[in-house]
Amino acid sequence: MELSLFARRFGGDSGVVDLMRDLGEAVSIHPDMIMMGGGNPGRVPAAERLYRERLRAVLDDPALAHGMLGVYQSPRGDERFRAALARMLREECGWAVGPENIAVSNGSQSAFFVLFNLFAGAFDGGRRKHILLPLVPEYIGYREVGLSDGMFRAERPAIERLPGQLFKYRVDFGQLAPDDSAGAICVSRPTNPTGNVLGDAEIARLDALARAHGIPLIIDGAYGTPFPHMLFTQTTAHWNDNTVVVLSLSKLGLPGLRTGIIVAREEIVAAYARANTILSLACGNAGPALATALLDHGELLALAREHIAPFYRDKAARALEALRREIAGLPCRIHKPEGAMFLWLWCEGIPGGSHALYQRLKQRGVLVVPGRDFFPGLIEPWEHRDECLRLSYAQDEERVRAGIAIIGDELRRSYGG
Ligand SMILES: Cc1ncc(COP(=O)(O)O)c(C=O)c1O
Repeated sequence: MELSLFARRFGGDSGVVDLMRDLGEAVSIHPDMIMMGGGNPGRVPAAERLYRERLRAVLDDPALAHGMLGVYQSPRGDERFRAALARMLREECGWAVGPENIAVSNGSQSAFFVLFNLFAGAFDGGRRKHILLPLVPEYIGYREVGLSDGMFRAERPAIERLPGQLFKYRVDFGQLAPDDSAGAICVSRPTNPTGNVLGDAEIARLDALARAHGIPLIIDGAYGTPFPHMLFTQTTAHWNDNTVVVLSLSKLGLPGLRTGIIVAREEIVAAYARANTILSLACGNAGPALATALLDHGELLALAREHIAPFYRDKAARALEALRREIAGLPCRIHKPEGAMFLWLWCEGIPGGSHALYQRLKQRGVLVVPGRDFFPGLIEPWEHRDECLRLSYAQDEERVRAGIAIIGDELRRSYGG
C-alpha cells in the first residue's frame, strides 16, 4: 500500500502521538502506573457535582435536550452559548466582543490545527510563513500540526536562576525579531510544559510587536484566564482585535466533551468556521450546552476561581515541596510554578539525558514526559532540551508523592549518588 505525503506526515510517529499512546496504554494495560505523564486534569469533587446537576437539568428539558443531541448546530457553534459567553467576557473581562467574535471547536487542539494553517505555510508567489513561538519550551501538541515543514520558529529563552533550586524562562526580546515570514505569534499562558506565566508587561510587548508586523497574537488559554484559571499569580485576561484567544473546557475537568473556543475578530472567526465545517461539519453540542447552563447560573467563573484555582495551587505547592526535598544537593532545578498543572524539572548534565531517565522511570511504574519534544521551531542544537522532564501533579495526592519519591531515587542513581 502506498500512502501519501499527508499520511507520512500525520500517520507517522510524533511526540504528541507517543504521549497519547503512553497515556492510553498506561490507563488500559498498566492500571497501576503512576500517571504523571499526560494532560488529564485532576478530579475536583465540587466541579463534578455541579456538572452532573446541570447536565441532568439539560436532559430533563426536552427543548434543551434536543438542541444538545438532535441537531447539527451552526458552523460557528450554538448561538445561545456564544451569546452567553460573549456577555460574560464583556462584563467580567472588559473584552469588546459579541457572539460574532466567538467560534466553537472540537477541542482546542483542532482549533490550533486550523488557526496555524490559516496563518502559516504556503503563500502566493512561493512565499512561506511560520508561527513564531517567542518562548520555548512550548506545548508538545503544536509540533506536528502544520500541513508543511518549517511551521514554527523559536529562539532560546533567557534563563533566570532563582533561589531555592528554582529557575524561570523569560522571553529574550533582544533576540525576538519577526521578519516578513512570520504569520502569527503564539504563546500558551500558562505555558505547558513549564507552568510559566507570561506577565502582563510581556504580553503587552508581544501584542505591540504583533501589531507592528500586521500579524495576530495567539494566546492559548487552555489553562488560563478567565477559565479554567489555573493561575497562581495575578494575571489580566488579555484580548483585543489583534488577539486570538483560544480557550477550552478540558482543564475544568471536561476533556471528554472536546470543546474548544476561539475568540477573535470576525474575519478570523469566519475563516476558521469555514475550514472547520469542511473538517468537522459541526462541533459537538454537549460542551456548549453544559457551559451555557453554567453561564446562565453565573457559575462558570465562580467555579474556576473558587474551586479549580485553589485545587491546583495547593497541589502545586505540595508537589513543589516534595520534589525540592528530593533534589536537594543535586544539580537540578524546578521551573517556578505559576500556573497549569506541571512541574518542569531541569537536570543539568544528567548522564544519559532525560529521555533515558524517562524510560527508567517507566520501568519503575512512573510515567513522565521527557523534555526534548517541547521545543518546536528551535533549530539550533541545545543540550538543555535533553536535560528536562515534565511531570503532572494533577492526579491523586498519594500517588503523586510516591511518584516524586521514585523520581528522586532515580535521579540520585543517575548522578551516581
Ligand atoms: C497548552 C495546551 N493547549 C491546547 C491543548 C489542547 O486541549 P483540548 O484539545 O483538550 O482543548 C492542551 C492539552 O493538553 C494544552 O496543554
